[in-house]
Amino acid sequence: MRQIIVQFGGTGDLAQKKLYPAYLNLLKKGYDITIIALGRRYPDRRTFLSNMELTGDTEFLKHLDYVQYDMTDFKGIENLEHKIDDIIDCAAEIELLYYIALQPSLYEEAIKQINIIDSHITCKVSKKIIVEKPFGFDSESARRYNEILSQAFTDKEIYRIDHYLGKEFMQNLLIMRFHNDIIRSIWNNRTIESIQIIFDETHGVDQRLGFYGKIGVVRDTIQNHILQIVTYLTMSEPASFSPEDIATEKIKVLRSIKPIQEFRLGSYESLGAESGKSLHTPTYAALKLHVNTFYYAGIPIYIRTGKMQKNAVSQIYVKFKNTTKTVLNNSEIVENGVIINIHPELTIDISMNLKQPNTSWKSKSVKFRFNHSETFGVNTPEAYEQIVEKILQSDKSLFPTMQEILESWRIVNPMLHETQDIEIYPDQSLPEFAEGMMEKDNQTWFAG
Ligand code: BG6
Repeated sequence: MRQIIVQFGGTGDLAQKKLYPAYLNLLKKGYDITIIALGRRYPDRRTFLSNMELTGDTEFLKHLDYVQYDMTDFKGIENLEHKIDDIIDCAAEIELLYYIALQPSLYEEAIKQINIIDSHITCKVSKKIIVEKPFGFDSESARRYNEILSQAFTDKEIYRIDHYLGKEFMQNLLIMRFHNDIIRSIWNNRTIESIQIIFDETHGVDQRLGFYGKIGVVRDTIQNHILQIVTYLTMSEPASFSPEDIATEKIKVLRSIKPIQEFRLGSYESLGAESGKSLHTPTYAALKLHVNTFYYAGIPIYIRTGKMQKNAVSQIYVKFKNTTKTVLNNSEIVENGVIINIHPELTIDISMNLKQPNTSWKSKSVKFRFNHSETFGVNTPEAYEQIVEKILQSDKSLFPTMQEILESWRIVNPMLHETQDIEIYPDQSLPEFAEGMMEKDNQTWFAG
């Protein structure tokens, strides 16, 4: 089957850095795809190609078309309709995929325009619509988008993206938890003391200010990536690994989480400087939440994430209770832990205490390490490639459902309305409140 991807946001950062490389690899794998990139900026395909930094080979460029499309001008719709008419052969088996990768403020209008374009297609084609995260600005707008989408698409045809679900470490969390009896038996509130999720990025957002400036850290990563990680860490075993069974368990987790009350937001000092703007969009957050299900209630989950940090750290730390220290009355015995490192490469460590040589009954904490690239090589497909491939195959296993999205908006809702108390933190440094939150609980951030 020939699949035609209509790429809204075809000149944007995401398309250039993530989607076009993914399409290139999928073409190499043998998928019959054509991309129609839409953009306001360039008048024609030649100018588009000469201005974009495309690393594809000439074969890829043959599959990449372009239409100038300005959402405020109905001419764009006509141009696109003509292009689709030219490309589509009514006798062939064709699927049209509308992929929205725009600033969220344009989604609603884009969906409306897609509905118009779609209603003018006279051949019998199958169709899909793909919407980037964040899906909405809050629960209300997410519901509204969905209603408009439902006028032209069934839920089966709608793919809501969270590219974290395409990441190898995420899928591995489920395999690690549910394919190992030793892990399964200790993964609960009887043995786990706390969990930390740390996602620190070194870069700022000035190149993406148009997008990020309007949404901030809560809508950019917490409502989606971070809460999805929480579900993968704490869901119960699904009846099977089908999309429906996994979604059922994720929903139970999300429904058990109360709207977040314990959080602080910060904004890095030089935000907007490159663009000459003064902005107070939150770029960093520290928060604490609880999953109130039978097996996870009582485990504090500490989260910190944001931009303009000294070191890039993407890490999950599952800290186990340290009963041995008390039983043996030995403060040198450290707790066991599972450490999942995502950057710069995927490793999973289990820390254990073993005998230190030349000592009498003294132990030392050592790590048992799994290194993904050493074991499996470096050729694991990027998240976006995995995600797009699933869409092409009509497999919905790596996409959050609408119900998950609504629950996630409910959970982060208090964070969306915080406008007063945003701490300005110096570039390349951790906001003070992130340390403060841990000190209050007698905890420290794991770094190791
Ligand atoms: C994106 C956010 O969804 O995820 C970015 O918009 C963030 O702000 C990125 O940097 C992180 O994804 P990754 O794949 O680089 O870990």
